[in-house]
Amino acid sequence: MQLLDGKGIAATIRAELNVEIRALTGEVGRPPGLAVVLAGEDKPSRTYVRNKERACAEVGIRSETLYLPADVGQDELLALIDALNTRPDVDGILVQLPLPGGLDSRVCLERIDPSKDVDGFHPVNMGRLMLGLPGLRPCTPAGVMEMLKRCSLTPAGKRAVVLGRSNIVGKPLAVMLGAKGIDATVTVCHSASPDSAAYCKDADFVFPAMGRPESVRGDMLKPGAVVVDIGISVTDRGLRGDADFASISAVASAASPVPGGVGPMTIAMLMGNTVQAFKARCRPKCRPFSGNLRKLNLWHMPT
Ligand code: GUN
Repeated sequence: MQLLDGKGIAATIRAELNVEIRALTGEVGRPPGLAVVLAGEDKPSRTYVRNKERACAEVGIRSETLYLPADVGQDELLALIDALNTRPDVDGILVQLPLPGGLDSRVCLERIDPSKDVDGFHPVNMGRLMLGLPGLRPCTPAGVMEMLKRCSLTPAGKRAVVLGRSNIVGKPLAVMLGAKGIDATVTVCHSASPDSAAYCKDADFVFPAMGRPESVRGDMLKPGAVVVDIGISVTDRGLRGDADFASISAVASAASPVPGGVGPMTIAMLMGNTVQAFKARCRPKCRPFSGNLRKLNLWHMPT
């Protein structure tokens, strides 16, 4: 079985981005800037944010994390987003989810300037994805697509099953897989699907993204299927994906591990989106979202 080594691929992408960022920083006179807003004390969120900071330092992105107390008011958070929207040295804004209770994440995400929305969660960017227009893409599904590409796994003409319909992963991934040029035939299964297992058994590509640890087993797969595991859960046995890796290994032709699979790819795509936003803002003569980065992260887009 082919191991889809997200950790290694992400390191390659970061090295590529570092070369591009060094050239751009010289050209523009400042590095790209990413602002991360972290409200409250959620432990996994703190870990994600630390990993993002580390990746920024490695590739040459100036990063700042704005820590807010869990009881921050909605108006205060919106005022901070407004300030970041207007700051010329901030190219990307990420509001870490989940937000503490009492804060409306939809309102906050919609407040971010779409040209700085490096999470790709703003309705403008989601809509552009839906329409096949250039824009900032959600990092996790973009990371899955980049992983497939760099592992020479082509879903064209194949049956792809996405397990989960979240706004962050399942929905945008289904659109990317079914886009013109990628050409998978996509089925989205979810918590109300009575026959997810039957769809899995028929699928050439399976993308578990439900957040239910080790729930996809080898006996649910067609022999030779490709499994890209997007789930990540903290269990009493450590971090676990949505696939039971040992049992799928005997059946799948390729699979991504957890940890070390999609997670590092997500962060690499965040770095790529930040550079893309930087370029679109600092080189207005360039067509937005064009340039060398078209080869990264944007392969599912028409040019
Ligand atoms: N929390 C878990 N994943 C993500 C993500 O991709 N972006 C943001 N903003 N928060 C998250």
